[in-house]
Amino acid sequence: MAEIRLGLVGAGVIGQRHIGAIRDCDDIELCAIADPSAVAEKTAHEAGVPLFADTASMLAGAQCDGVIISTPTEHHLRPALSALKAGAHVLIEKPICATVDEAQQIVAGATKTGLHVLVAHQRRYYPQVEKARDLVQGGALGPLVAVSGQWTLRKHESYYDPDWRKKWQAGPVVTNLIHDMDAMRYICGEVESVMAEVGSPILGWEKEDVAALTIRFSSGALGSFILSDQATSPWTWEMALGENISIPRTGENAMRFMGRDGSLEFPNLVLWNHAAPPFDWTQPLTREAFPLTAEDAYTVQMRHFAAVIRGEEPPRIDAADATRSLAATVAVMESARTGQRVSLA
Ligand SMILES: NC(=O)c1ccc[n+]([C@@H]2O[C@H](COP(=O)([O-])OP(=O)(O)OC[C@H]3O[C@@H](n4cnc5c(N)ncnc54)[C@H](O)[C@@H]3O)[C@@H](O)[C@H]2O)c1
Repeated sequence: MAEIRLGLVGAGVIGQRHIGAIRDCDDIELCAIADPSAVAEKTAHEAGVPLFADTASMLAGAQCDGVIISTPTEHHLRPALSALKAGAHVLIEKPICATVDEAQQIVAGATKTGLHVLVAHQRRYYPQVEKARDLVQGGALGPLVAVSGQWTLRKHESYYDPDWRKKWQAGPVVTNLIHDMDAMRYICGEVESVMAEVGSPILGWEKEDVAALTIRFSSGALGSFILSDQATSPWTWEMALGENISIPRTGENAMRFMGRDGSLEFPNLVLWNHAAPPFDWTQPLTREAFPLTAEDAYTVQMRHFAAVIRGEEPPRIDAADATRSLAATVAVMESARTGQRVSLA
């Protein structure tokens, strides 16, 4: 099988994780890095690849089948359009862009060139997410009634050293809620509307410290979600699974899906049903666990990107799908700003 050659634009925290994932895949080669920072020189030297100051010079100097874009969110658009123009497929970090307008330009670029744009919502590569979707959409809970979720932790102070992380585009709504919003869409179906409040009671910067939202799904189910990057708690997806080596695992669930006939704890996958007729609160509840182990999602995602480039698999989440997750997420900020419910119809 021919080796797939990938260029990396933005070799920061998550860019280095992608370099590690490429290293785990025999048939994928990192062929170049584009990043203007001094730190990237060391990264490129260690990876043994040429370093370019920007995407255009990388695409001119190295032959890339695909390009990974892991620049700060507000700098996703130009590298993505340059890569498509140069004939390379794209794996772009989440959120696809900071605004829906920009994201739609990427959707249009992918359509025009016929190239694939895969968006790095890595939770889609976890068996826990797939199983939850099967249970919810397969009817194990009966009709879905409600969803309750939480993502509350306290980020380390140096996280905010880069100025771009103090802005709203890097706040926990756009940076972190987007993962949960994408997972909720994937598991429960489309989001119809969102109402939200955000606040900055701790740091007082442009980015929010806390958000509280209600979600109406197209199915009629309602959801509520609390989010903060300034609250000490054990309840986040990352802590539940130990996905990120820098965030110690707690094993605590972060979400619950409630249907007329049963409930599901997530991502620990514990299903609750009434044991016997009349299947109501007079009956004991039974508990069934589905313990699942997951491979490193970044490696699975990288392997999938190569398969998409070879034409062997359709993208698990393309630009249009990720734009819908972005629209539902930025609706939180719009609702908080206007005090109105935001419809996504
Ligand atoms: N999938 C996930 O779970 C996950 C986790 C963290 C970050 N991210 C996303 O990854 C992106 C980057 O985040 P990060 O934490 O790695 O940021 P970072 O600040 O650590 O790294 C960004 C890198 O991009 C470089 N850069 C900036 N502008 C550039 C440009 N125009 N061309 C080339 N390089 C440029 C910077 O020099 C820096 O090295 C963001 O969109 C973020 O939301 C995703």
